[in-house]
Amino acid sequence: MTHEPCRNATRHLLGLEGISSDKITSLLDLAEYYAQMDCRTTSSRDVLRGRTLINLFFEDSTRTRTSFEIAGKRLGADVINMSVPQSSINKGETLLDTAATLNAMHTDLLVVRHSQSGVPTLLAKKVDASVINAGDGLHEHPTQALLDGLTIRHYLGTLAGLTVAICGDIAHSRVARSNIYLLTTMGSHVRLIAPPTLLPNTFRQMGVDIYHHMDEGVKDVDVIMMLRLQRERMSTGLVPSAREYFRFFGLDHRRLNLARKNALVMHPGPMNRGIEIESSVADSDQSVIQKQVEMGVAVRMAVLDDLTRGKDIP
Ligand code: NCD
Repeated sequence: MTHEPCRNATRHLLGLEGISSDKITSLLDLAEYYAQMDCRTTSSRDVLRGRTLINLFFEDSTRTRTSFEIAGKRLGADVINMSVPQSSINKGETLLDTAATLNAMHTDLLVVRHSQSGVPTLLAKKVDASVINAGDGLHEHPTQALLDGLTIRHYLGTLAGLTVAICGDIAHSRVARSNIYLLTTMGSHVRLIAPPTLLPNTFRQMGVDIYHHMDEGVKDVDVIMMLRLQRERMSTGLVPSAREYFRFFGLDHRRLNLARKNALVMHPGPMNRGIEIESSVADSDQSVIQKQVEMGVAVRMAVLDDLTRGKDIP
């Protein structure tokens, strides 16, 4: 099976703001090709043969870091996971000195996660490698939104015309921001559901509908995407107690039944069962949370392939 190359206007993947629907579609098509490929029998190891990918994670991660590693290896790249606690960054080396060091090693792909918004963009200006944002502060998490888009398209056939509710800690969620850009660009209607303390006014300008009552927000939607309370990014207590939060904004079976029949239940992980989502809803037939993880590898293969096409090996 062959695949048309995606048009590659940029060298990096720093965010989805301003990205065209054509570009999203071509990335999702390529990801679908990789998702359908049987890795046990088909080899794609020539795609990134001779290339080096460095995973540079300044924040915790399970799914994202592992799936970039698997994606890189499935395409034949040499993958290095830099462990920040054991690196010179902990000895006080500045970010830009670290960038210069990695650059001198002729890295092709640099996957960066950082607690500060804008770090991948800054690094992209300083290194020759293609930089992929694997989540920066409150800003963006483009590959998460792409895998969410691919999962929805897999089950519902399209993104156009769907109503998608994103519910929970919107204020601290880079996943929500990237998904709003992707979904509105692809013609979905986006509803944001959260208490006012977790939903800043700036979101109103993003072409979305705002709800502060979960029952109203989930009514007749095609997809419910739940988000974790990101307490590590909250300076003060923005929500009362976990129990109160679940009562007003948790997804249980009663609320799920207000959505369209067979609406998809999604969560980017890590999940806090019993806080934003009832455990049995997370494990129900309508939950596609494991599919999201599976699609994560395919999307990252597509992004790595797309960013390196036509580029010389340094
Ligand atoms: C998210 C993240 O790190 O932004 N997780 C992920 O990448 N799957 C969401 C979160 O941490 O809650």
